[in-house]
Amino acid sequence: MKVKKLEIQNFRNISGISLEFDDEINVICGENAQGKTNIIEALWLFSGAKSFRNTKDSEFIKFGEKKSKIYIEYEMLGVKNTAQIVFDDKKTAFLNDKKLSNTSSLAGKYNAVVFSPTDLTLVTDGPDKRRRFLDTAIGQLYPNYIEILRSYSRALMQRNKIIKDYRYDKTVSIMLDVFETEIADMGNKIINYRKKYISVLNNYVSKIYNGISCGKENIEIFYLSKNDILNNEILKTAREIDMFTSTTSVGPHRDDISFKINGISVRNFGSQGQKRSVALSLKLAGAEVIKEISGEYPICLLDDVMSELDEGRQNYILNHIRNWQSFITCCDTSNVKNLREGKVIKIKGGEVV
Ligand SMILES: Nc1ncnc2c1ncn2[C@@H]1O[C@H](COP(=O)(O)OP(=O)(O)O)[C@@H](O)[C@H]1O
Ligand SMILES: [Mg+2]
Repeated sequence: MKVKKLEIQNFRNISGISLEFDDEINVICGENAQGKTNIIEALWLFSGAKSFRNTKDSEFIKFGEKKSKIYIEYEMLGVKNTAQIVFDDKKTAFLNDKKLSNTSSLAGKYNAVVFSPTDLTLVTDGPDKRRRFLDTAIGQLYPNYIEILRSYSRALMQRNKIIKDYRYDKTVSIMLDVFETEIADMGNKIINYRKKYISVLNNYVSKIYNGISCGKENIEIFYLSKNDILNNEILKTAREIDMFTSTTSVGPHRDDISFKINGISVRNFGSQGQKRSVALSLKLAGAEVIKEISGEYPICLLDDVMSELDEGRQNYILNHIRNWQSFITCCDTSNVKNLREGKVIKIKGGEVV
């Protein structure tokens, strides 16, 4: 994957810029709050995933404006493409000038992997972060998975809405049956996708982590699920508790992943350095899976991570991504002194200087 050109209009603090990129390394440099991450975010959104900054679509539009546009020209497997996303009161995506039914249809048509300081929360925070990691990664590879997730959460929401009535009115059982069948059906698909993804990921993560830790440590990832298979019976039994909480206590929306180094949980017992290395290995491994399935490395977005890493890890990443097109933000070019080639883009107040 190579992005050749990016044009931005009224996106975040950027009124209008047009950038052409190097096929290998692009360093985006500038002081705090100048628009570096906004550029990374724009490049990320074409993957069809949500922003890594957890924002609403309306927040992308520059304050005081009504419409925002991001446009790219890129090459995938040697084929030239253009893509555009327009944000106004809704969000519209175009691939090669053809309007798509939704932006998530861009998944698989453009591949990116993003590293940001918040990645550490993948290891340290609650399970929702890890589920999101899985869902984003799988959704990028299989657009169909995003549809499955959507149907699942729709059915879940409907069940949660009526489950409290079940306490007083057992006739809602008929409706619950319908939603629970959908939850079980979609839920099993989700569990299968996730387990399959993790088994592929495991091979790469262990190799990469081994490299980062200089062969001293072994890592393994496990998918944690209360029920290996979800069915109506399990959901029906759960009604007795769920009716008091208006939630659904079983299903893949409650699952988690666990990381173990030499058999010990990283989340509970790992050092800060180990956690950081796990997060990094996961992302790099995710990119390897994309390569395996799509035939090409994704673009690599490194947002403010270089300064946080010790030199050993910095060099490990830079070596690992040597043949990928990468976009690296930093405040100070001294953080990327190990990079000799590539293009440096200086950003100030949402403009190129
Ligand atoms: N919708 C928006 N309209 C205008 N400015 C915005 C919008 N969203 C974010 N910003 C501004 O963008 C700047 C942050 O840009 P960012 O790319 O995160 O900076 P950095 O260069 O530190 O990565 C902040 O000054 C913020 O106020
Ligand atoms: Mg930033």
